[in-house]
Amino acid sequence: MAAPAFAAARGEHTLLLGPSGSGKTTLINVITGLITPTSGEVKIDGTAMSALPAAQRDQLRRRTIGVVFQTLRLIAALTVRQNLALAQNLALGQTDAPTIDQLIAQVGLTHRADARPRELSQGEGQRAAIARALCAKPALVVADEPTSALDDANAGAMADLLLATAEATGATLLIATHDNRLRARFDRTLVLSAPQGVA
Ligand SMILES: Nc1ncnc2c1ncn2[C@@H]1O[C@H](COP(=O)(O)OP(=O)(O)O)[C@@H](O)[C@H]1O
Ligand SMILES: [Mg+2]
Repeated sequence: MAAPAFAAARGEHTLLLGPSGSGKTTLINVITGLITPTSGEVKIDGTAMSALPAAQRDQLRRRTIGVVFQTLRLIAALTVRQNLALAQNLALGQTDAPTIDQLIAQVGLTHRADARPRELSQGEGQRAAIARALCAKPALVVADEPTSALDDANAGAMADLLLATAEATGATLLIATHDNRLRARFDRTLVLSAPQGVA
């Protein structure tokens, strides 16, 4: 049997759909170079991630990929605004305050811009993590369960923001979710099946 393969063309948007435990986070960690696959390979813009030394892999990820982690990974000591500024600095070597303020407004966190992550609700944290992933205008935006803590209105708004931002910047979008609410918004869906032993 041929090994499974997945390719996303530049500007293409894919929903990675599957139940809990089906391997969405693992696949995202492989795609973003956070874990090295034991077989197969990942190419970003033609560059094989696993062929790069760790430092160069980190640099490629910072410059090219905006990641919304399932566990958010906001930096606890920094405010929302500072988290975005640091991400921009690491990716671009400079900060762009108007873009930061605009994104914070777009995710509805202007009144929480100077709050630290532990002062945010789970949903506010998710929105901050989405803004951080977008703030350096990455070519690839990868989001792991970005709407799991959000109510219907906010989940729709966040999916629309991710899609609109990706459209505006020509970014490729990959959203992993078990959230069927997002399905209607995507033309392309990649389904991972339930883990063995789970109905
Ligand atoms: N670091 C790890 N080491 C070993 N197994 C893991 C690790 N992380 C996840 N798993 C297992 O891999 C499977 C897929 O997990 P995961 O990728 O987190 O799925 P999903 O994100 O779809 O819920 C699960 O059975 C999970 O228990
Ligand atoms: Mg997961």
